[in-house]
Amino acid sequence: MSLPFRITQQNSTSYMLLFLFLLLCLLLLVCDPCRGDHLFTICPGVSNYTSNSKFESNLKQFIQSIPSKTSPTGFYTTSLGSSPDQVYGLAQCRGDVTISCASCINNASLGVLKLCPFGKEATIFDELCEVRYSYQNFFSNMVYNGKYPVWNSTNQSVSDPVTFAEALKNLLGQLSNKAVGDAKSLFASGETGIGGENKIYGLVQCTKDLSSSSCGECLRYAQGDLVGCCSRRVAGIVLSASCGMRFELYPFFQESTDGNNKKGKTSKILIAACVSVAVALLLTGFCLYCRSQKKKEHKDNERSSHALLHELVISPHALIHSPRNIVDGSDEVNNQELP
Ligand SMILES: *[C@@H]1O[C@H](CO)[C@@H](O)[C@H](O)[C@H]1NC(C)=O
Ligand SMILES: *[C@@H]1O[C@H](CO)[C@@H](O)[C@H](O)[C@H]1NC(C)=O
Ligand SMILES: *[C@@H]1O[C@H](CO)[C@@H](O)[C@H](O)[C@H]1NC(C)=O
Ligand SMILES: *[C@@H]1O[C@H](CO)[C@@H](O)[C@H](O)[C@H]1NC(C)=O
Repeated sequence: MSLPFRITQQNSTSYMLLFLFLLLCLLLLVCDPCRGDHLFTICPGVSNYTSNSKFESNLKQFIQSIPSKTSPTGFYTTSLGSSPDQVYGLAQCRGDVTISCASCINNASLGVLKLCPFGKEATIFDELCEVRYSYQNFFSNMVYNGKYPVWNSTNQSVSDPVTFAEALKNLLGQLSNKAVGDAKSLFASGETGIGGENKIYGLVQCTKDLSSSSCGECLRYAQGDLVGCCSRRVAGIVLSASCGMRFELYPFFQESTDGNNKKGKTSKILIAACVSVAVALLLTGFCLYCRSQKKKEHKDNERSSHALLHELVISPHALIHSPRNIVDGSDEVNNQELP
């Protein structure tokens, strides 16, 4: 895009700042949901591979391939090499995650190598994705080994535990049924009111190698544990190799499967901040331009002021476009997932 005025020292500085800021915004928007905290790692440590073994090279090949292989559908399984050095691997992003999938898988897989060194099997959970590998074929086998990440030290109790526990139980039951009923995604998110403005937001997910019935079984265990630990608390999460379940008092998922778009609060604030700063910088640029034009006493009158205004007015649109794309992308996925 050519700038509609001659670049003076001041102008070029503002534009540099503008572009740096927008770049930062874009990075934050893309990376905000993938903070990369590893929620939980399961390293059985019962069987180890050695440096420079065939198993290690198969595993590294798996790790390198998964960010790109997983992101198109959010799910990928593969097996590499042959026994006894065979690696079975699974990578999956949470059902509501689209653009952050590859980066989550990337971080999780690097994390699992670091946190389970030489393990011949391991599972790692990040907030938005899971990576699991083994020397044994585990596909389609339901494993419930419910883990509470350190997260559940969110110990705060709710004020009306009886109503809350009842609403929570109903919500988790409904979400489980919904996930089991959608064999393609084995995922559901949703919310339920608990009086006033307050709502419980819940999410359930099985790994997509499971059958619907195995998924249902896994979620029943998870619900038992989650209700057991946390039905009087403001938040709870249970993770297992084959499924996970979580609730909060705020919307923590990107979009719900029932067509109600819910963006994270942070993204909204971030978009608003980016847009207002962009507009402010553009206006400043425009004012600087006006002043320099006045000084020059309209020496170069080649552009009509109308054309200039037009360019300045449409620029903010171009800038807002990237965040909008993210929202649009979410919509697309929603539509695909609806039957
Ligand atoms: C990746 O994970 C590490 C922990 O191993 C974390 O410190 C880092 O912030 C994460 N990076 C991104 C981009 O999420
Ligand atoms: C495998 O390695 C881990 C970490 O290096 C160690 O803690 C564990 O005891 C080892 N297991 C075996 C069976 O050697
Ligand atoms: C999470 O809650 C469960 C159930 O109360 C408990 O067994 C577990 O130790 C807790 N974990 C942490 C890290 O507090
Ligand atoms: C959790 O709650 C119990 C009692 O409700 C309290 O004794 C404990 O200190 C709390 N732990 C944390 C980490 O807040």
